[in-house]
Amino acid sequence: MDFKRTLITTALPYANGPVHIGHLAGVYVPADIYARYMRLRGQEILLIGGSDEHGVPITIKARKEGVTPQDIVDRYHKIIKDSFEEFGISFDVYGRTTSDTHRRVASDFFRRLYDKGEFVEKTSLQLYDEEAGQFLADRYVTGTCPHCGKEGAYGDQCESCGTSLNATDLINPRSTITGSVPVMRETTHYYLPLDKWQPKLEKWILDDHKEWKSNVYGQCKSWLDMGLQPRAVSRDLDWGIPVPVEGADGKVLYVWFDAPIGYISNTIDLVGDDYTKWWKDPETRMLHFIGKDNIVFHCIVFPSMLMAEGSFNLPDNVPANEFLNLEDDKISTSRNWAVWLHEYLRDFPGKQDVLRYVLTANAPETKDNNFTWKDFQARNNSELVAILGNFVNRAVVLTHKYFDGVLPAPGELQEEDRNLIDEFRHLKEEMTTALDNFHFREALRLAMDMARAGNKYLQETEPWKMAKSDMTRTATILYMAIQTCANLSIAFEPFLPFMSEKLLKMLNGDKISWDMLGCFDLVPAGAKIGEPVLLFEKIEDDVIEAQVQKLLDTKKANELSAWKPEPVKADCSFDDFEKLDIRVGKVLECSNVKKSKKLLQFLIEDGMEKRTILSGIAASYPDPSVLVGKEICFIANFPPRKMMGIESQGMILSAVNPDGTLTVIAPSADVAPGAQVG
Ligand code: MF3
Ligand code: ZN
Repeated sequence: MDFKRTLITTALPYANGPVHIGHLAGVYVPADIYARYMRLRGQEILLIGGSDEHGVPITIKARKEGVTPQDIVDRYHKIIKDSFEEFGISFDVYGRTTSDTHRRVASDFFRRLYDKGEFVEKTSLQLYDEEAGQFLADRYVTGTCPHCGKEGAYGDQCESCGTSLNATDLINPRSTITGSVPVMRETTHYYLPLDKWQPKLEKWILDDHKEWKSNVYGQCKSWLDMGLQPRAVSRDLDWGIPVPVEGADGKVLYVWFDAPIGYISNTIDLVGDDYTKWWKDPETRMLHFIGKDNIVFHCIVFPSMLMAEGSFNLPDNVPANEFLNLEDDKISTSRNWAVWLHEYLRDFPGKQDVLRYVLTANAPETKDNNFTWKDFQARNNSELVAILGNFVNRAVVLTHKYFDGVLPAPGELQEEDRNLIDEFRHLKEEMTTALDNFHFREALRLAMDMARAGNKYLQETEPWKMAKSDMTRTATILYMAIQTCANLSIAFEPFLPFMSEKLLKMLNGDKISWDMLGCFDLVPAGAKIGEPVLLFEKIEDDVIEAQVQKLLDTKKANELSAWKPEPVKADCSFDDFEKLDIRVGKVLECSNVKKSKKLLQFLIEDGMEKRTILSGIAASYPDPSVLVGKEICFIANFPPRKMMGIESQGMILSAVNPDGTLTVIAPSADVAPGAQVG
């Protein structure tokens, strides 16, 4: 490795809500895997995290709840920080951008650029919401993206195509505060001339970093090809870090100016003046772990800031991921369509590794990917339990059974044993390459192949049979099996740190390192092996169904809140109405029409004679018998109509619900069957 140490940063999540599986899969799990792997390799690293506490996402949330932005960030910073910790994301520091250090560092950074003349001050017409009495930028304004034509782009970025925008670029802009159409008003801002850095950026990315992931490289290239424009780095807002310049009252730093500086301030909070070693020594390598919506800011905007400042390192790599969907739908904080980390930890105590496993196995590394609860269950039951847990359990149980839990010395190795060792060395090599290249899915699959190799070894050597005839050979096999367990505790540590720790404890081991992986003398003969501990347990159907139901409830609640009544139809005269003969009837019988998914067949007491009516509401009444005995309203004077060979003499009246289901209309008290409605 041609660097001395690695600074690993993770996108600072907005403290406007808890973190969800999309954040985890995209940023924090891969960053943590890499950090743990680097530590196992004995590398000097820092894993930097923190909350992003400024910007419009925070003030929008505060406004919605009628509390202050400070209340919001205090609440969510704590939830986020605690849940990361419980989940085993091994941050060396987890700071916040409202800290005193950060305010000072970000302010100084701006001031340095200002003093060097790196900003252009420009007065221009900007979008203004007259009703709210404020300028509209960033998420305060939405409209149609001028690049991809999608609606719902924000004033600083279109999340559909990732392009960074100026608010005035939006087509048909609307205020997200009041919904009104903004007017134009003059204001002055500080602009960072990205165009000035274009040639340097081109050389740095397009020529010198061809090894970046193709999604990252491709996005950068397309922006550079379009030509960079100056970007405003100040805002007319009252939440943020004040612009540290005379005459800039009421202006704060743009959140995307201050937030990435948070990586620097959080490093300073951790190591003080030593931060220069992490940020300015050319032998330090910097990596930014982010989601794809952050690429432009980490590859173009922040590097331009760093170049303008002049004394900081640029990132070596930006292994950005694509997005994770949830049950085939885009994860959304505002629609509550997410699996929230703090809720997962509450619902699945002690099962951090299961989620870490599933999110890595399905990581959206090269394309958007999907999380489903069914897949979560299947991966737990048929991979973690059946392959990894099963192997370790057999090895440990058999060692207890035949050797009282004391690891026997091995006899001479045979071909099967040597094959196992070879296979582990080979898999280790592949794993190392995969990890070095940020291919975490593949690395995890290779680790799982190690567990598979262990199972295959036991299947082939059958120590439970061997024990009947040859205890020396049995000793060798179990010696090998226990060494395999020790190897698994190393190989899986970056991915499943809780499992790894438990396993290591069972083996009475303590220190592990990547160098040890592939060695088959990690646990000495004579070592006492602990009692077998269950590493994973089966997840039952009802647990999964409860989670799926929770999502269905969310979907329903969303439909309800998004629902609007149909517009009122064209005028209808009283005469028109009088032509309809609406009556009350009593349901005598109600059942599904054979071979029809839609139709229910009613027998109605209508005060005159009984009548049969067919109604297409079967989907809304899985048990039609609940309607028997109820009074309902129906139209009595529609001409009879035949459906599925049955004549229907009228129409049952039902209300159409927001989710499309139908509810039969019933009178509010008992009414004589046949009574007219009018
Ligand atoms: N808060 C931003 C987001 O969630 C990420 C900020 S990353 C940083 O998209 F670099 F600005 F810190
Ligand atoms: Zn777009």
